[in-house]
Amino acid sequence: MTATSMDGRALAAKVRAAVKDEVAELGELGLATVLVGDDPASHLYITRKHEAAQEVGIRTIDHRLPAETSEDEVLELLRGLNVNDEVDGILPQLPMPGIDEARIIRAVDPVKDVDGFHPLNAGQLYLGRPTLVPATPTGILALLAEYAIPLDGARAVVVGRSDIVGKPVAHLLLQANATVTICHSHTDDLARQTLDADVLVVAAGIAGLVDPDMVKQGAAVVDVGQNRTEAGLVGDVDPGVAERAAFLTPVPGGVGPMTIAMLLRNTVLAARYRRGALAFPRV
Ligand code: GUN
Repeated sequence: MTATSMDGRALAAKVRAAVKDEVAELGELGLATVLVGDDPASHLYITRKHEAAQEVGIRTIDHRLPAETSEDEVLELLRGLNVNDEVDGILPQLPMPGIDEARIIRAVDPVKDVDGFHPLNAGQLYLGRPTLVPATPTGILALLAEYAIPLDGARAVVVGRSDIVGKPVAHLLLQANATVTICHSHTDDLARQTLDADVLVVAAGIAGLVDPDMVKQGAAVVDVGQNRTEAGLVGDVDPGVAERAAFLTPVPGGVGPMTIAMLLRNTVLAARYRRGALAFPRV
């Protein structure tokens, strides 16, 4: 058996087309990003986010600040964006070296938190009332839905416990009534856990961590890895897994394109919350 490849590029294009229609209906929408320092990968990600936003008709504000920018200066900038009526979404690109990222995340008005990283939005997800949810996990659930992968009662195993992917995707799977196990760097006998998975999400940042012997026949495997190696961009899942899995996301072209599409969708959602079309959970 060779796994069906879960095409993130195709689904992301569909999502972007739907977002474009919604933006046209809502009128002016604004997304502001804040990048500190000169990490080339971060600059590339931010450029891609701006291009994608502009393509669907979202206006963008691009703050690129020098590496020596202080935490107070970033906080001051965020205060201005929070009260700027032309800004629906604020995205402080991480990592921000030398800056207390938790403080930066808390400083974003939760209703403009298109990353879904603010404790209020993270807490809403934990409580089973998802409001603004991180983009990569939302993209993963959208891919699973697109390929009609059953989640209710399924055994889901998540490898990785980051705030950006592992923890939020585990909560979304739980919300979908899967039985969820979260594995991480201290998990003893990882294969014993992964072999049990009907749905396996791997977000560990370790090239080729999951090999075919660690995957149950017929499983759906989502590879969130984006590892730059001498062999090019590779995932956390060995491509040989395609011989055992029923579904597998490719790298590149799987989860990656979904992240930006879902960021755009979150910007529309944030605008609807802020404009009162949806009720945002303030006190
Ligand atoms: N750095 C890596 N992934 C992300 C993301 O999804 N959002 C932000 N703001 N920074 C990131």
